[in-house]
Amino acid sequence: MDQSARDLANDRSMGHWPEGLTRVPYWVYRDPDVARDEQARLFEGPAWHFLCLDIDLPDIGDYRTTMVGAMPVVVSRAEDGGIAAFENRCAHRGALICLDDAGKGKDFHCIYHAWRYDLRGNLKSIAFRHGVNGKGGMPENFDMAAHGPRKLRVTVVCGLVFGTLSEEAPDFETYVGPEVMARLRRVLHKKLEVIGRFTQPLPCNWKLYMENVRDTYHASLLHTFFTTFRITRLSQGGGVMVGANGVAHASTTLAAPPGPDDTYAGMRSDNQGFQLEDPSFMASVAEFGDNIQLQILSIFPGFILQQIHNALAIRQIVPRGVDKMDLNWTYIGFADDTPELRNMRLKQGNLAGPAGLVSMEDGAVGGFVQRGIAAANEEDSILEMGGASAETSETRATEASVRGFWKAWRAHMDI
Ligand code: FES
Ligand SMILES: [Fe+2]
Repeated sequence: MDQSARDLANDRSMGHWPEGLTRVPYWVYRDPDVARDEQARLFEGPAWHFLCLDIDLPDIGDYRTTMVGAMPVVVSRAEDGGIAAFENRCAHRGALICLDDAGKGKDFHCIYHAWRYDLRGNLKSIAFRHGVNGKGGMPENFDMAAHGPRKLRVTVVCGLVFGTLSEEAPDFETYVGPEVMARLRRVLHKKLEVIGRFTQPLPCNWKLYMENVRDTYHASLLHTFFTTFRITRLSQGGGVMVGANGVAHASTTLAAPPGPDDTYAGMRSDNQGFQLEDPSFMASVAEFGDNIQLQILSIFPGFILQQIHNALAIRQIVPRGVDKMDLNWTYIGFADDTPELRNMRLKQGNLAGPAGLVSMEDGAVGGFVQRGIAAANEEDSILEMGGASAETSETRATEASVRGFWKAWRAHMDI
């Protein structure tokens, strides 16, 4: 732990950081100083951030706006066919350069004083640069090339566009690691199509949501729908893969073996008597050539890929202060989906999302923690299921992947 880390951990009235990965002090979800440091060390540091899909920008001039932590970002298809990403902040006095979620244009004009940028975010012209009638204007020696929004390094992998401000971030595949890269390729193996988008505001610190995503232990306890209809039970095969340094994870559930299963007897999630009025809701096809019916994958800090049966979605975490966040959902299918398969995806899409039969609970439980820890400045959470390590495990009755998240977080935050 270096001096700055010690300052971060100790100089707060809130408390210290315990040794190891099995305890997390609650002040990390509540302290504005932590949020400020996260912006500098994670979101603007050596990590990769999901920006948009490659297919969001099919033609030159297409653009989308997004967020990297607190930083607004423009992503565009430049004249040379490449993808550019730059901070959505005018070099003049800081207004958003681009106001829309998405669109198409030849260049970008800031609405405030009409400074103009090309598709790569280079400042190209300044309104009234030479003044009017020989009076006013910018100094002759003002160097437009030296002023502009910050530019991100961009990479396109499996149809996903990721970006980073950092020159030190390793290349994306090294960052993720080969095991989880294979899991990413398993799902995103051909041309994608967007079939729905929305934003879900959540009443919790962003890290509570990412812990939930990586928490293989909760799924079959919190989500009664999962166990009732055997989408995931800890008694089904599968496991959790934790990439090197904890940066990436992928959890899997295999199809349920036939026959009775009394693992959940007596628990809240034991609802064997329930039936669906429309059983076609649960119809699915094994489209990836394996027995994996559920895979949840994450890449630190804020990217999630979901495969629940045939419901595929990308979730992007956007922190909004210490106790709020937005979750941007993009539902996807493949360009060559049959109408039947597309219909199946749309139906199963109701499993997840804000009103999802499954993930409705995930939208609430982070807020329950945020409210529960409101006065717990000196207390820690416990992460001891499955031991103390952050390694790949053949069971999902473990918090190994959550410990992996904290391993990555602490490495980036230098704590
Ligand atoms: S703030 Fe953009 S042109 Fe003035
Ligand atoms: Fe969940």
